Amino acid sequence: MTFDPEQLRSHQWYGTDGLRSFSHRARTRQLGYLPEEHLGKPVIAILNTWSDINPCHVHLRDRAQAVKRGVWQAGGFPLEFPVATLSETFQKPTPMLYRNLLAMETEELLRSYPVDGAVLMGGCDKSTPALLMGAASADLPAVFVPAGPMLPGHWRDQVLGSGTDMWKYWDDRRAGLLGDCELAELESGLARSPGHCMTMGTASTLTAAAEALGVTVPGASSIPAIDSGHDRMAAASGLRIVDLVREDVKPSRILTREAYEDAVTTVLALGGSTNAVIHLIAMAGRSGVRLTLDDFDRIARTVPVLANVRPGGRHLMEDFHFAGGLPGLLSRLTDLLHLDRPTVNHTTLREQLAGARVHDDDVIRPREKALAAEGGLAVLRGNLCPDGAVIKHIAAEPRLLRHTGPAVVFDDYRTMQRTIDDPALALTPDHVLVLRGSGPRGGPGMPEYGMLPIPDYLLRQGVRDMLRISDARMSGTSYGACVLHIAPESHVGGPLALVRTGDLITLDVAARGLRLEVSEEELAGRRAAWTPPPPRYERGYGALYSEQITQADTGCDFAFLAAPGRVPDPYAG
Ligand code: FES
Ligand code: MG
Repeated sequence: MTFDPEQLRSHQWYGTDGLRSFSHRARTRQLGYLPEEHLGKPVIAILNTWSDINPCHVHLRDRAQAVKRGVWQAGGFPLEFPVATLSETFQKPTPMLYRNLLAMETEELLRSYPVDGAVLMGGCDKSTPALLMGAASADLPAVFVPAGPMLPGHWRDQVLGSGTDMWKYWDDRRAGLLGDCELAELESGLARSPGHCMTMGTASTLTAAAEALGVTVPGASSIPAIDSGHDRMAAASGLRIVDLVREDVKPSRILTREAYEDAVTTVLALGGSTNAVIHLIAMAGRSGVRLTLDDFDRIARTVPVLANVRPGGRHLMEDFHFAGGLPGLLSRLTDLLHLDRPTVNHTTLREQLAGARVHDDDVIRPREKALAAEGGLAVLRGNLCPDGAVIKHIAAEPRLLRHTGPAVVFDDYRTMQRTIDDPALALTPDHVLVLRGSGPRGGPGMPEYGMLPIPDYLLRQGVRDMLRISDARMSGTSYGACVLHIAPESHVGGPLALVRTGDLITLDVAARGLRLEVSEEELAGRRAAWTPPPPRYERGYGALYSEQITQADTGCDFAFLAAPGRVPDPYAG
């Protein structure tokens, strides 16, 4: 196929005879470019989530230069667009509130500017799904550049995982085992370079999912953020996107049902974050693919956990990278993957994985030495979660996987924080901690409250896990017997709103059941007496969010963004 520059979308901005094209060319001279530097070349938007406030993306300001280098060399014209940064640590109440905002920004920038293709730079948790959701909706050729994991943490003789070890040492602190000096040292040791969390948290899970979907260059997702290889990967992505434009390979060609199923398989084999369930469902929705909780449960029953990476395993992302990275992992799952589908690099995934190998069998396990025979995720149903809930059971103490206990209910996170350590509650390890008001609408934004803290007096007795239930999410670096994403959430009148302290709750992971042991008559009475909480926002983005947000089982997209149909191109329309 020969490439005709007049077929470029950007040609309508730059190449026609009219006044508008004249003005766009004049304004490009104003930017300092010669006509021969850009006319007739694919315009590549580099969407950069760099910010001074985002430690996971702080290196992306420089890294964009490597992407540009690649684009120039391939004969494209790179233009960098700063877009919203979603910092998992700093943004409150949770960046999940803003995932759809970045998705919307991505889609609309790509559509409204003279763009032929895009390089998407992100990695901290929600930024990956947000960028890919927007790119899927805009459906212009796109390559994702993952931010890359930070270096492993260190403290004294310990190797630390961001997130995971923060929770662990904070529990030690609450149990009275750590002093101020130790804590100050830990502050400097937990996260010691730019890059996203280097455990198998939400960031590593979702960037791996992006690679499995086929929208990164091969092996991209595990390259440490500050490794020179990360620069080379960025340049390779810049080179590749220009050809993708010339070949007219759009996300709709790559992001198929098969690709999403393979992403689910990947997430499960990684023992990845539960957040991936919500994000992949939302991303698939943008690609016109109906991915459901049942798909996750079905696939989870066939996929072994092979990545021995924290929090489920022992190692960190750097180890995973040198053990072969995602291509290595996928090379051990070929019978479970759709090998004939295309990626942005190869005609088939089979070709892309040719030659992929594992170099360390402890980090990426062979099938017969899997960490768990089944994927670390189960979808639960029952009268407490008619539309489903999820649990990452490999991260829980086995005694809790089949458990009945009395509920102790907290209506919101602040109340829980204030009262959880009060010995008057007289909690035992068999109690079931219930948090509500933390779902997509009630949270708002479904904050990562799902790993409810264990009372300090129980920690001091050595208790490290309890059954916890909520309509919240959980950080990918968290662990424990936490039932999450209960749908519908309590804020919209889901059965979670009807639980009372003292009610018995039964979890049975093998049977995929979650039951509130209260009679239907009693629940009907409670339902009749329930009054909906007042709206959280009277105006602004929060009001739009509350009006449009969908429940966890359908991915928490905005209804108007998830809707099928197309938006006219501003010039072609
Ligand atoms: Fe950004 Fe963990 S805080 S990835
Ligand atoms: Mg996280």
